[in-house]
Amino acid sequence: MSNGFDRDREEFARGARAVIVYPDLGGSSRDAEARLEETAGLAAAIGVEVVDRQAVRVRTPRAATLIGSGQIEQLGVLGRQEEASLYVFDAALSPIQQRNLETALEAKVIDRTGLILEIFGERAATAEGRLQVELAHLDYQAGRLVRSWTHLERQRGGFGFLGGPGETQIEADRRLIRDRMARLRRELDQVTRTRGLHRERRQRAPWPVIALVGYTNAGKSTLFNRLTGAHVMAEDLLFATLDPTLRQISLPGIDKAILSDTVGFVSELPTQLVAAFKATLEEVVSADLLVHVRDVAHADTVAQKVDVEGVLSELGVSDTTPRIEVWNKVDLLDAEAREELLGEAARRSDVVALSALSGEGVDTFVRSLADQLTAGHQRFSITLDLGDGASAAWLHQHGEVLDQTIEGDQAIYEVRMSAKDFERFAERRSGGQD
Ligand code: GTP
Repeated sequence: MSNGFDRDREEFARGARAVIVYPDLGGSSRDAEARLEETAGLAAAIGVEVVDRQAVRVRTPRAATLIGSGQIEQLGVLGRQEEASLYVFDAALSPIQQRNLETALEAKVIDRTGLILEIFGERAATAEGRLQVELAHLDYQAGRLVRSWTHLERQRGGFGFLGGPGETQIEADRRLIRDRMARLRRELDQVTRTRGLHRERRQRAPWPVIALVGYTNAGKSTLFNRLTGAHVMAEDLLFATLDPTLRQISLPGIDKAILSDTVGFVSELPTQLVAAFKATLEEVVSADLLVHVRDVAHADTVAQKVDVEGVLSELGVSDTTPRIEVWNKVDLLDAEAREELLGEAARRSDVVALSALSGEGVDTFVRSLADQLTAGHQRFSITLDLGDGASAAWLHQHGEVLDQTIEGDQAIYEVRMSAKDFERFAERRSGGQD
């Protein structure tokens, strides 16, 4: 039997006809149209059919319903005309507001957090991702149970003949949720430990980690695919990526680097998810280089950038981690905007303008990845015996061989590499001479 907190999924997902509602509370830096577009995209990501979208101006937010009664009536008429069974509110609704709106509109209502949790639930591909989403979902549900106490509370078994004495349904539900959460945490612990081991093993290998981050739909997966030739799902579906995908790439002067594609960020990311995904996003926190991919053709590109940076600092990413900003989708800009952005990007060493789709600018990007990662590298002159093929191979692998000359039975290599690698090389040689 359903416990009440895992029942929601099927009720509104695939194929449901939905009206998207953006309660515009004023004072937002975001464009209402772009907001509606984003929410429609999020809804489409879980197979909902968007039949209409409405921005609703809210002058005085109502405690009971957020929007006004006349507005509810209009939305009701619209929904009935369109045979909608779902309203997606791009806002944070209190449990009471959600319930009252459902009653008034005679349809299911979900808010932004609920929607994002649904998407995360559908997309999580790894065991860890799934556990984290379920945990976040339960956390969200538990909060709703607590806050809608008066509505849900009902005595179970009259005078305590059934269940614990005086135990209410809500207490029972909360206990079930708590037990389930405790079990999930234990499972998650186990999975995280295993993953930690993998990471540790990798960290011992001297490969830099580059993490792609960015607002949802910015084009991270498309860029990732271009760099790796992998076929990560790149779709016009928000959150196509949920679990981090790792691939090995090589760059000029860097034999191996790890590229990680991570979950897309959104504004008002449910706090439960920020916490839950901290573990998954550890790749980002410990990355050697962060690449912030931005959709510069989007109306809210600046607000999106602020959101992403907010999440990064919430995650504890240090300001000192080197960053490159990618101004993606330049192919969608008009000539004037394009020229302006390309000009500015050319003047800045921390920005690259490109189109992940057409490939324009990607070469420059690869070069600047290499430049950033090798920024602390120096030029060394190293003399090897001609027969020392193993050392020569090591230099090629760990550094960028700029020049090579032969004098008698010796080869002189001009190599750019990190001081750390030069030290390693010296140790390796002295070890070999013993
Ligand atoms: P999430 O998984 O939601 O975080 O998305 P993402 O950032 O990985 O975006 P993705 O690569 O899936 O791209 C989203 C959409 O934008 C897809 O339809 C891409 O084809 C499109 N796109 C990506 N880069 C470009 C670009 O340079 N130009 C144009 N025109 N479209 C692009």
